[in-house]
Amino acid sequence: MQDYDKLKNEVLIKIKEANSLDDLENLRVQVLGKKGSITSLMKQLGSLEPDKRREVGQILNSLQKNIIESIDNKKSSLEETYLNKKLKNEALDITLPTRPENIGRIHPLSKTMDEVISIFAQMGFTVAEGPDIESDFYNFTALNIPQEHPARQEHDTFYFNEDENGERKVLRTHTSPVQIRTMEKLKPPLRVIVPGRTYRSDHDATHSPMFHQCEGLVIGDKLNMSHLKGCLIDFCRIFFGVDDLPVRFRPSYFPFTEPSAEVDIGCSRKSGELIIGEGDEWLEILGSGMVNPRVLQNCGLDPNEHQGFAFGMGLERVAMLKYGIPDLRPFFDSDLRWMKHYGFFPFEQTSIHQG
Ligand code: PHE
Repeated sequence: MQDYDKLKNEVLIKIKEANSLDDLENLRVQVLGKKGSITSLMKQLGSLEPDKRREVGQILNSLQKNIIESIDNKKSSLEETYLNKKLKNEALDITLPTRPENIGRIHPLSKTMDEVISIFAQMGFTVAEGPDIESDFYNFTALNIPQEHPARQEHDTFYFNEDENGERKVLRTHTSPVQIRTMEKLKPPLRVIVPGRTYRSDHDATHSPMFHQCEGLVIGDKLNMSHLKGCLIDFCRIFFGVDDLPVRFRPSYFPFTEPSAEVDIGCSRKSGELIIGEGDEWLEILGSGMVNPRVLQNCGLDPNEHQGFAFGMGLERVAMLKYGIPDLRPFFDSDLRWMKHYGFFPFEQTSIHQG
């Protein structure tokens, strides 16, 4: 007679030792498959005496049950081991600190331009634009700067060669030509600002051959110098963040405005340090004036019906003053060290790694 206990122990040890799902499956076929050892023992039951058959049948049944159970258990444990190994190998370590990546900076000029635009936007201005390459008419003549006018020399203009019509285009020397373009296109009342590139042949610590201005133009039907003053005083105080900033209007001359005024803000320059809003010195930051009736006429507007005011400022200049940048030339050098020093973070949070 078979030693069932021995058989059972042998099989259970093999199950225990199986170390892959494949091995375990092979073992199952060997024992419980069609030609498996237990299956063939079961098959032999028919040839036994009825009493013996019952006895051996019971033993074999419980043996089979036992083996099936331990195969199932072993299978679950092998599957679990396999899964854990897989999870471990494929795990992502999200606890790593961020790499010290460089965060881009906002150029002080872009920052300044955004600030200027948003202040005027709150006063109801919209943004207008015009071409960098201008005709002599828009850059000078329509602005009441005829040929031979001394202002033409002061502008250090970059001229193009004559075109086929004998016309010499210019790189616009100011954003004022967009005043004309706007009045030709839009009907009053209107309020626009014109931020943009301008060009003059000049290069030193405070002048660059390419620079930026922001023009402003307001046309209505009952506008006077006090509107100009109120608008620009508000702008200066908001822009420089000084509520009681002294603002002075100094008589000046521009061919396209009459009367004209240069706008200065109060400051002090004690021991080389510039403090805006304190002291008894003045800094010029804007040109302005009431639009010259001749300019209105050049744009087809009747000066008896419409008046307005205009102003223009150098954006690099106000950026340098507001942010304490002493030299204009590096503005356009794309030097990352300069950008890291003077640039602005695009996000408010300071907790992010500052590379
Ligand atoms: N266009 C003038 C300049 O470039 C500035 C200005 C604009 C003055 C509008 C008065 C009115 O200096």
